[in-house]
Amino acid sequence: MQRNSNRGNKKGEVVYIRTYGCQMNVRDSEVIRGLLQESGYEFTAEPEKADIILFNTCSVRQHAEDKVWSGIGRYKAKGPSCSLRANQAKRKIIGLIGCMAQNYGRDAFHKAPEIDFIVGPSDIAKIPGIVSKFVHRPSSVVHHNLYETKIWETDGDTRPDEIYHTGFYEDKNHAFVVISEGCSNFCSYCVVPYVRGPLHNRNYKAILKEIEEAVDKGITEITLLGQNVNAYISSPGLKAQSSKLQCKTKDSEEINFVDLLKLVNEIKGLKEFSFITSHPKDTSIELFKAMRDAEKLKKYLHLPVQSGSDGILKLMNRGYTGRFYLDLVDNYRKIVRNGVLTTDIIVGFPSEGEEDFQATCDLVKKTEFDAAFIFKYSSRQHTEAQKFIDDVAKEEKERRHRLVLDLQKLISKKKKS
Ligand code: 5AD
Ligand code: SF4
Repeated sequence: MQRNSNRGNKKGEVVYIRTYGCQMNVRDSEVIRGLLQESGYEFTAEPEKADIILFNTCSVRQHAEDKVWSGIGRYKAKGPSCSLRANQAKRKIIGLIGCMAQNYGRDAFHKAPEIDFIVGPSDIAKIPGIVSKFVHRPSSVVHHNLYETKIWETDGDTRPDEIYHTGFYEDKNHAFVVISEGCSNFCSYCVVPYVRGPLHNRNYKAILKEIEEAVDKGITEITLLGQNVNAYISSPGLKAQSSKLQCKTKDSEEINFVDLLKLVNEIKGLKEFSFITSHPKDTSIELFKAMRDAEKLKKYLHLPVQSGSDGILKLMNRGYTGRFYLDLVDNYRKIVRNGVLTTDIIVGFPSEGEEDFQATCDLVKKTEFDAAFIFKYSSRQHTEAQKFIDDVAKEEKERRHRLVLDLQKLISKKKKS
């Protein structure tokens, strides 16, 4: 991969990037920005001033996708054939990036012909090269079919580790640091394993080096990111860049998530760190002890439960029961004194009856989360649950959503007083 080249942008074109979805996308947008800046592109916070508009997208729920389609719609070119760059000297170059790019592939060009290129999450390193092709493409050439003018990259496997070392972070003090990409859990409702691929762990030395580089730039706080950070195991024997902490560990050693936390805690100059997201089935007493003992680690755990009903948890393929979750919380509270606990909950999963829903409300009451993010089930293509009948009516999903929100509001209020 080419780095530190200024060859990409001879025309001084300006980029605007719009980010949808989770922190992983926020970090991906930073990486993309870092790569494009290395190639000489400038950035603007005002889309009207941009020549190139990138949509870094989320597919986790239908609502997230709808927002992107209407966002793209706003940049629709006028005229009969907006897909063709010919005679559109002023038309903006539009790129669809991330989970929706992977989810729709070339179909996205049919849904929104104004999109010029599509890049899936594993291919983001290719973005500067792709953008450069559009920037340098003569606008006077007439094209005759849709695909002739388009570029799509969705076949990538893993990302080159160098992309994480551009040193660009939106925040002066805080950095997101990816420790693993993708997910192999296949929760039945979730599109992530299909759009982000199977779990791929970064080598721990590369992670430590990135954190040290960030600290050298003045960053004092970091968040370790992954879809399921607890499942982290550093690939042994991988040749990675050296970190200052390297001498204390051997290349062949298997580093798990708890080991990684201990190593991050030792990084000089780092003041505080946290991690997100955890899966209950991979969450251990050892993790809680590490949270208790690592003085720089924030006492904050985001532990999505999704449902309180064992039947629904089974259909969701979550790999635990409500009882297991409550015991885990019990241990967390005993070991990590004053630890903050938040969660995600889905209401209206296929076949969720009143009893299942009440089991979720009971679990919320018993657990007393500090905060809960409540979602209405949304059927996603590729997933196992898409085969189930989405039989909870929209109004009922809304009712359950409101009830859990209100319940959590009361709990949060009580906890604050
Ligand atoms: N429908 C509704 N919510 C979903 N989530 C993931 N997939 C879906 C879906 N198909 C929620 C889960 C997850 C959070 C990031 O989004 O609660 O933890
Ligand atoms: Fe999706 Fe489940 Fe993986 Fe989370 S753990 S990203 S919900 S498949």
